[in-house]
Amino acid sequence: MKLIIVVAKSDNNAIGKNGELPWHLPADLAFFERQIEGCYLLSGRRSYESEQGKDIFKGRDFVVLTRRAGYKARGGKVAGTVAEGIEIARGDGARRLCILGGAEVYRQTIGLADELIVTEIHTRIDGDAFFPEINPSLWEETKREEHAKDGENPYDYAFVWYGRVKERGGTSYQEASTHA
Ligand SMILES: NC(=O)c1ccc[n+]([C@@H]2O[C@H](COP(=O)([O-])OP(=O)(O)OC[C@H]3O[C@@H](n4cnc5c(N)ncnc54)[C@H](OP(=O)(O)O)[C@@H]3O)[C@@H](O)[C@H]2O)c1
Repeated sequence: MKLIIVVAKSDNNAIGKNGELPWHLPADLAFFERQIEGCYLLSGRRSYESEQGKDIFKGRDFVVLTRRAGYKARGGKVAGTVAEGIEIARGDGARRLCILGGAEVYRQTIGLADELIVTEIHTRIDGDAFFPEINPSLWEETKREEHAKDGENPYDYAFVWYGRVKERGGTSYQEASTHA
């Protein structure tokens, strides 16, 4: 099973503000929908309950991470640890597990992921939730599509794919200590 982090972040790594996305970028929402097609989804409880979470999970296989006993996710499963969430997806036969954040979940899973699919939003945002720095000794860019802002999308943006650096590789321990 491939573990894929899907995230949109500003140039200063902001991903959220007050529990929601700090921008409205329809081109990214459309891109996001295409990337998660056919994925089993993994989400932190706060992102799952956020406004943008309302439509994402409908009709899809997903697991929500929470430490709350007895939590129910309508139409999906619930796990008490990251490892348990991954095992639930694997047990359900998932081939791609898309990790959808938020900040707390990205921090704990960037060391486990096989691929990062990142929308770079070319502006600085005053956020309160952030994506970890992508360590270039662990991750290499494999593809990039740059787009200019337009009438509907107020910032220049890029869709960027990262794979693990082959020669040196990286373990979750190395990654965690790099970003501690
Ligand atoms: N730009 C993007 O691509 C993007 C994507 C997703 C989210 N976001 C933004 O990110 C922000 C939310 O991020 P966040 O860090 O506040 O919350 P989050 O990561 O979505 O959820 C955190 C919650 O997940 C549960 N959790 C986390 N790790 C766990 C573990 N190891 N075991 C069990 N449960 C675990 C806990 O739930 P309980 O409290 O229930 O125990 C925790 O409070 C929002 O602003 C959202 O809009 C942005």
